Amino acid sequence: MAFVSDDLYNEICMANDIVDYASSFLSLKKSGRSYMACCPFHNEKTPSFHIDRDKQLFHCFGCGASGNFVQFVMRMEGLDYRDAIKLLAERAGINIPENGIRQSTEMTKKKDAIIEMNRAAARYFYDMLMDPVKGREARAYFASRKLSRKTIIKFGLGYAPDSQDGLLQLLRGKGYNDKQAVDAGLAVIRRDKAVDKFRGRVMFPIINVRGKVIGFGGRVLGSEVLEGGFKLAKYLNTPETPVFDKGSNLFALNLAKNSNETDMILCEGYMDVITLHQAGITNAVATLGTAITPQQAKLLLRYGREILICYDMDEAGTKAALRAIDVIAEAGGRSRVIRITGAKDPDEYITKYGVSGFRKAVEKAAPSTEFRISIIKRKYDLTDTEGKIRFVDETAQILAGLSDPVEVEAYIKKTSADTGISEQSIFGKYTECRGKAKKSAPARTKEEYKRREVNRINSGKPPQERVTNVVLEAEKRLLSLIAQSRHLSLEAAAIMPAEEFSNDVYRRLAEKMYACAAAAEPVEASVILDSFSGDPAAENMAAAVFFNNEVYSDNDKTLFDLIYTIKKNKLEARINNAVDPQEIGELIKLESELDKERTEWGKHGGKTTEGPNI
Ligand code: GTP
Ligand code: MN
Repeated sequence: MAFVSDDLYNEICMANDIVDYASSFLSLKKSGRSYMACCPFHNEKTPSFHIDRDKQLFHCFGCGASGNFVQFVMRMEGLDYRDAIKLLAERAGINIPENGIRQSTEMTKKKDAIIEMNRAAARYFYDMLMDPVKGREARAYFASRKLSRKTIIKFGLGYAPDSQDGLLQLLRGKGYNDKQAVDAGLAVIRRDKAVDKFRGRVMFPIINVRGKVIGFGGRVLGSEVLEGGFKLAKYLNTPETPVFDKGSNLFALNLAKNSNETDMILCEGYMDVITLHQAGITNAVATLGTAITPQQAKLLLRYGREILICYDMDEAGTKAALRAIDVIAEAGGRSRVIRITGAKDPDEYITKYGVSGFRKAVEKAAPSTEFRISIIKRKYDLTDTEGKIRFVDETAQILAGLSDPVEVEAYIKKTSADTGISEQSIFGKYTECRGKAKKSAPARTKEEYKRREVNRINSGKPPQERVTNVVLEAEKRLLSLIAQSRHLSLEAAAIMPAEEFSNDVYRRLAEKMYACAAAAEPVEASVILDSFSGDPAAENMAAAVFFNNEVYSDNDKTLFDLIYTIKKNKLEARINNAVDPQEIGELIKLESELDKERTEWGKHGGKTTEGPNI
């Protein structure tokens, strides 16, 4: 994981302060030892997001998001580990020397090479577009789409001429071989020979928030393009490469993130986005030819308070909008739907109704619930009794998924007015649906979050291996204690080996802490957490351990009580799940042995030598 040495990592972290960094995004309030704010990773009105300045960790008691400083930067900025470290180094004016990079692995080199090749390709496509002869047709195409030269430059648009290997030759000249070009998604093998992947297409570079060209979309010129009797795909996108993941990047986010708008506009098409930007609406982005993913929703919610969905108004677009609403809600965000009636897509809408028309449509954007209800309303005939009933049924189901009672009430009133069915009846339906509603929305309380955590850990495990919240909570508190004292860690290591922890995250934490204790080294929360980077669920779980600052009047007693709770609960769970009488007998014996053993715990360790709190 480490890409800089531990020393350099520490230096970079020490030179920055998580509170200082976070205060540029969040309005932090000091509360005791920690700082609090509304969580940037889920929607909330009362702050449950905490930062521990001493440990340089963050933790949200609402959604469970948790981690060290670097992990915080990764999530806030949508960066990978390497770039997060680089950003922090830059902030502190620290140079990362070549030899500080421990993990200059094959993969890192490969990624860097692809980024370089993409940059060269973007430059080549641009040059081809501007070539007086070769680029004429493509320039005419962009002109027909009303794109100005300024826009072309701003988006770095280009043209891939219909040549077998124009780009390949250029890349070869720069020292790249054909395999590298294929790996970058810039070439394909055809009849045993590498050829340019993009031919005869106008090119849209896809640039990430760090300003790197990670891939391309290429569009045919015009609509009907036939090759050998086949209609060519309108768009061709870069395939998945080590630097290009369609599901976690967005077209034009590199530009939109700098707009001063509070909300972000999500479109389907590259051309829609470009036209909007050209018209001065600079907060528009698009997915990369797929439906919006949870990662994309989260990424976008980092830059906008709400997501304004701006899809085509045809059936496919409506379906996609409904799905986007769900994905965004699942990611903890709010959305509205811009209705561009009278045009087939945003691009055409702007051309027809101008910027002021578009801005009006934005102002009138329907809140997601209103949009969802309006869609089902279209399905039913509300002058018909049966239609009314079905409409109320479906509406109640939508309302049952909402968390804001004011919103629910408002829509109940509206539905009542639309159908003439009384508010009480609709409310009754709503309550009924709510009882049945699956809890698929983001966790809204600490308890719900915990329940989900337990379910997540237990999923796919046979009954005898499932853990209860009691065990999990006890293990967490046990690890928190161990983290605070070497002496307690040694005590625990003697009676509760790392393998006995119920899940992988806790096992790994125990191993690391026990190892620190054995070597008489301090437990550095931030360094240990680093090894969990890249797996957010594990990061959250691990960091929550270090965030737990509970103080006990008698640490030793608490330690043994916790270990007893864990062992006892696990045995009981096994007893409850065992069917074989002999096995049950053995387990019961183990249980009584545990009670006996317990009286011996701590007798040899002694309480007197509380070590330094390391
Ligand atoms: P125009 O037709 O030029 O207005 O393009 P557009 O960008 O508005 O595209 P459209 O609304 O037709 O489609 C939306 C998005 O879906 C595009 O920007 C592409 O990302 C993707 N897409 C459309 N057609 C294709 C295709 O044939 N293949 C692939 N892979 N993606 C496509
Ligand atoms: Mn279009």
